[in-house]
Amino acid sequence: MKAKIIVTGGTGYIGSHTIIELIKSGQFEAVAVDSCVRSTPETIDRIEEITGVRVKHHNIDICDRNAFFSVIEQEAPVAGIIHFAAFKCVPESVEKPLMYYRNNLGSLENVLEACELYHIPRLIFSSSASIYGDVKELPVTEKTPFGTPFCPYAHTKQIGEQMIHFFADTHPDLQSVILRYFNPVGNDMSGLNGELSPDKPNNLMPIVTQVAIGKMKQLTVFGTDYDTRDGSCIRDYIHVCDIADAHVKALQFLIDKKNESNCEIFNLGSGNGVSVLEIINAFEKVNHIKLNYTIGGRRPGDVPAIYSNSQRANALLNWHCRYDINDMVESAWKWEKHLSHLRKTE
Ligand code: UD1
Repeated sequence: MKAKIIVTGGTGYIGSHTIIELIKSGQFEAVAVDSCVRSTPETIDRIEEITGVRVKHHNIDICDRNAFFSVIEQEAPVAGIIHFAAFKCVPESVEKPLMYYRNNLGSLENVLEACELYHIPRLIFSSSASIYGDVKELPVTEKTPFGTPFCPYAHTKQIGEQMIHFFADTHPDLQSVILRYFNPVGNDMSGLNGELSPDKPNNLMPIVTQVAIGKMKQLTVFGTDYDTRDGSCIRDYIHVCDIADAHVKALQFLIDKKNESNCEIFNLGSGNGVSVLEIINAFEKVNHIKLNYTIGGRRPGDVPAIYSNSQRANALLNWHCRYDINDMVESAWKWEKHLSHLRKTE
């Protein structure tokens, strides 16, 4: 029998790609739990189109304790929870901090309580490189301490990690892994599943593809006067399917009892710093498109460069990136074109 995994946020960007990887592994049965406030139930159709498997989806808000516990009771026995469901927009979190604390931490509280009450043995938690703040030393390892949180979103991830640590201390039966993502981009290589970005996205890649398709007029490069090789900011972009694969590997790591502590932390980045101008160049070259962009001033809060040391995940999870920057820009563009086609036929 396949081990059943509850994926909260299962119709979201990283959640849906992780469900695809769980199915492809042949080891797991995935069940999506998602209220679809930031995604759509049609994602389940997309997963089916890619994998041939119809995934069960509970359309509930996991902050609703009774509704969530009722799902867990229905799905018992559950071998693990992968907890993605959270809000993740940095400027929105600055505008509506309480919404972020309530949603991101209330949901985690329910997830931890469910693990306790229903004896769920494994938990994988989505964290973010934003917990490191403005780092002084590169590359960033798991030992790099938390920085000053620059926004409520980053703060919810710091508190979330600490909640899991304290909980793990008194719950030795729960085995957990915290995964700190750098900059996940790209989509399923088929072009059939991807991120449903808001109309006014903040992140670089959805802006690049929306400019390319004509939904947005122009991309502004936020600063080319940084002390970097071409003056633009450097980030560690990582293909979403590699992030997804790391979740499957993390589950397997816990199932095989390879963890030393019951709360293990891994950075997930490619280990390579790539600049904004390099992303633009790769997008233009791979997709044979000229992007309309201009050079603008710095965005407040941006750090010049941040990238990961992911050797811990490479060694202990046996996880390695399969996709490079060209795959990221190719799949990002494929999905944007597919979305535009879907919208026309709606
Ligand atoms: C952002 C979040 C981070 C989150 C991550 C998820 C902030 C400050 N940080 O990281 O918490 O975990 O997304 O992927 O928002 N850029 C432009 N023009 C644009 C948009 C972006 O030049 O129109 C540049 C930025 O200056 C940055 C790079 O592109 O150097 C990447 O930006 P973005 O995609 O927003 O990611 P981060 O800021 O690294």
